[in-house]
Parts: sequence; structure tokens; C-alpha cells
Amino acid sequence: MKILMVCLGNICRSPLAEGILRHLSDQRSLGWEIDSAGTGNWHVGHPPDPRSVKVAGLHGIDISGLRGRQFQAEDFDTFDRIFVMDLDNYRDVLRKARSDADRGKVQLLLEHQQPVPDPWYDDALFEPVYKLIFSACERIVRNS
Ligand code: 4NP
Repeated sequence: MKILMVCLGNICRSPLAEGILRHLSDQRSLGWEIDSAGTGNWHVGHPPDPRSVKVAGLHGIDISGLRGRQFQAEDFDTFDRIFVMDLDNYRDVLRKARSDADRGKVQLLLEHQQPVPDPWYDDALFEPVYKLIFSACERIVRNS
């Protein structure tokens, strides 16, 4: 299974999601390939936000080596499932879809159309965002 996590900047939420899902996949020897990308291009080549690196580290997950990249249409060819953090990401990813098969790969990470809040402007959101993403990744692993 190849899974892509997508947010806006690829420095706060989706690197956390990538690190967490890789951690859970490795624990269970699932052999999944996991990556992340942003719909925007401001942080291409940048490491994750230090606040995401910190909260992941507090939970025993090292995401410091990840680097930002922008989502591209070819990602639909590479990945089986594409999880987006919010409805803006959903719209931006679907805009690049070329077929119903592409569109069918995309879903929100959380259930019930809930967004993962963007913690960029609020330091206090990183821990709750970590927990939301962790629960969602546990559900993905459990249901696969
Ligand atoms: P992310 O958060 O989408 O979770 O990576 C953001 C990071 C950077 C910006 C916005 C959101 N920005 O405007 O640069």
C-alpha cells in the first residue's frame, strides 16, 4: 500500500501524519510506503516546522529528516490512497485529478468531514493536532 498525506505547506500537519503512519506501519511490519506533500510551494525543500518536530519527538517519532515538496498530478499514479487534512486541501488536490480513478483515491484524514486544524498560527494546537492525526492513523491501520 502506498499512502500520501497532504496539507497546505507540508511542514506542520502532513509531515506529522507521514511520521506517525510510518511509525505504526513499521511497528506492524506492514511494508507500506508513506510520503507527504503540500498543495502550496512555499516550503519546498524545507524541514518540518520545529514545533511539529518537537511534538513528534516527545512521542518518540523523529520527523526531522523530512523535506517539503509540492503535490503533483503524477502522485495519483504513484499512490493508492491520498489523505488530505482539510477541505481546502481536498479542493486543491481534486483540481489536479485527471479521472474518476484519481478522484476516488482522495479522502479527508478525519471522519465525518472534520478538518485537521492548521496549527501554523497557534503553538497550543500542535499537541491536539498530533493526537487527532495519531487516532486517524491508528484507524487506517486497523481498517486495512
Ligand atoms: P501545514 O501548515 O499546511 O500544516 O504545513 C502550514 C504551514 C505553512 C503555511 C500555512 C500552513 N504558510 O502559510 O506558509
